[in-house]
Amino acid sequence: MRKIVAGNWKMHKDRSEALALVSALGRSPAIAGVEVMVAPAFPFLAMAAELLQGTDIIVAGQNCHHEAKGAYTGEVSAPMLQSVGVKACIVGHSERRQYFAESDEMIGRKVRILLDHGITPIFCCGESRAEREAGSHFKVVTEQMKGALGGLTPEQMEQVVVAYEPVWAIGTGLTATAGQAQEMHAHIRSLLRSHGPNVANVPVLYGGSCKPDNAAELFAGPDVNGGLIGGAALDAEQFKALVRIASES
Ligand code: 13P
Repeated sequence: MRKIVAGNWKMHKDRSEALALVSALGRSPAIAGVEVMVAPAFPFLAMAAELLQGTDIIVAGQNCHHEAKGAYTGEVSAPMLQSVGVKACIVGHSERRQYFAESDEMIGRKVRILLDHGITPIFCCGESRAEREAGSHFKVVTEQMKGALGGLTPEQMEQVVVAYEPVWAIGTGLTATAGQAQEMHAHIRSLLRSHGPNVANVPVLYGGSCKPDNAAELFAGPDVNGGLIGGAALDAEQFKALVRIASES
């Protein structure tokens, strides 16, 4: 099964900081068996793609618009990302759902336009604290998956990466226990399998306060194929440690 460690830098790092982090990662020797992705903010994607040329590190966007072009002031399209060497893109992050009112339907359109442009969508799903406390977390994730990915063909589904990010664990220092993560990942795996046998091999990443000191336990889950990392991805040493832990899990 593929393993991926992806760093979501969110709205952090100015040009010189982004340059320093990308350069530090680019200089590090590749670790066998783990695909590494970094998602800096839009202004630094082209620079990151150029600096990382010749390495195995993939540059990812954090978002894109669901149309290829048009009068959408302030937005960035999938073909624009493709033209600067972006090979993956996060979609449906809970911060986009929460602060920018992204619906499952809109996220599904983003997934499709990314696939049309040869960009790997990293599709995020996950329940809020209230939803977990109400015991509806499996239902919520099922609806997010069906709402956004339901219309895809098995061949399209095979190109997607899923990230399970419980909203209550993002940036809070709270993390899902290894058991909570694995049981949701197994649920997501069964949803994927219902699209076709090969779709069951889609990587499912865990995200939410994943750090070097809890990653080994989280990544040990048989259905946990790596991580989508926020805070710990902003530091080269911590991020590299997470990649090493994924390679050993
Ligand atoms: P933290 O690792 O900072 O909790 O963020 C996780 C996340 O949202 C990655 O997309």
